[in-house]
Amino acid sequence: MTTQIQIDQARLLSELQTLATFTDAEPASDGTAVTRIVFSADDLRARAWLNELALAEGFEVREDAVGNTFIRWLGTEPDLPAVATGSHTDAIPHAGMYDGTVGVLGGLEAMRALKRSGPRPRRSIELVMFTSEEPTRFGIGCLGSRLLSGTLDPDRADALQDNDEATLNAVRTAAGFVGQLASVRLPPNHYHAWIELHIEQGPLLERETIPIGIVTSIAAPAGYRFAITGFGGHAGALLMPDRKDALCVAAELILSVEKHALATGAIDTVATVGTCDVHPGAVNSVPSRVVLQLDIRDTNPDRREAVMHAIRRDCEELRQRRKVTITEELVNADAPAQSSPHTVELLEHICKEQGIPYKKLVSRAYHDSLFMARLAPIAMIFIPCRNGVSHRPDEYAKPEDIALGTRVLAQALAKLASE
Ligand code: GLV
Ligand code: MN
Ligand code: MN
Repeated sequence: MTTQIQIDQARLLSELQTLATFTDAEPASDGTAVTRIVFSADDLRARAWLNELALAEGFEVREDAVGNTFIRWLGTEPDLPAVATGSHTDAIPHAGMYDGTVGVLGGLEAMRALKRSGPRPRRSIELVMFTSEEPTRFGIGCLGSRLLSGTLDPDRADALQDNDEATLNAVRTAAGFVGQLASVRLPPNHYHAWIELHIEQGPLLERETIPIGIVTSIAAPAGYRFAITGFGGHAGALLMPDRKDALCVAAELILSVEKHALATGAIDTVATVGTCDVHPGAVNSVPSRVVLQLDIRDTNPDRREAVMHAIRRDCEELRQRRKVTITEELVNADAPAQSSPHTVELLEHICKEQGIPYKKLVSRAYHDSLFMARLAPIAMIFIPCRNGVSHRPDEYAKPEDIALGTRVLAQALAKLASE
């Protein structure tokens, strides 16, 4: 059955382009800029549009209390654990149009293609669109999949605040997602297997002209928030010896992060300070308080922790020398995830059978699959993206690669759903 599956590449492409029009971003000269922050007007429009596509196909749609959306094609034995796929449609500020969306719309097209090509499978097949894979609004990524897998305490999640001090509870309720967050959690064995299709977000597949990547593990991400409090005031009148400029301390801390991440010598250690909020943020005022967010990842969580130790030593030295306070808040420190050998072998088998070149690789980006691995055997399918670029408007994946990834996904779902 599987080789007869036909992917409607033109429709999939046109849907990706339509989804990209739900954006808060200003048009950019360097590509189609997409900004779609969770529960913004554009996110809600995108969700409504996706639900319509699913309902038009006769699939069942369910939304949970945090807005995770489940689109299900019922199998002939609907009580068996379903086979699932999916990803996210939220996008960081000034991003591209493929991150996450390929896995959602590709997943939908895979299900439609299976429905066109043959009878209902034994197990149901379900597409999941996760809420807030991106940490932009509430500071922590994979909100939906953390709650699904029981990795995040529901009360802590509801109390998370955005930059306007609106809580997740208030924002989700206003968006129409009501009920206890505790109800989001799914039991173990809810899914028979999980596969996520995603752009690689790195250069390896394109560099080696390989159209399919099979992810064997996902690196361990962690997030921290550092708040530096010094002593500010008038930029003209506050004399240099009397200052405790919090932004100067932040500058040293950012360079310490870079130094210690490089010092491991491991290509898999990465650390980024991607936000820096300066108070009061006026050109003629010495910064008195700065909040930094640190994103640090490694395939080896012990090495990641060793880098954090070195950063903390530097913080202590900065406190003494510059007479400031520095507080550190842990946002998340996650373990890596391993793909299931069975699912990886299945994907390898599909590629070998059809002569599709593939490569096994590690995902350095995180994905909702990191948390789905706590619920089910997982794997991920990567497709190449131009120059390995992602989280930028010029992110690009070739239509034929998207279609091929979708076809391999459909074939794997069909096989898993027959087990
Ligand atoms: C996901 O967007 C990540 O930052 O890896
Ligand atoms: Mn992303
Ligand atoms: Mn993504």
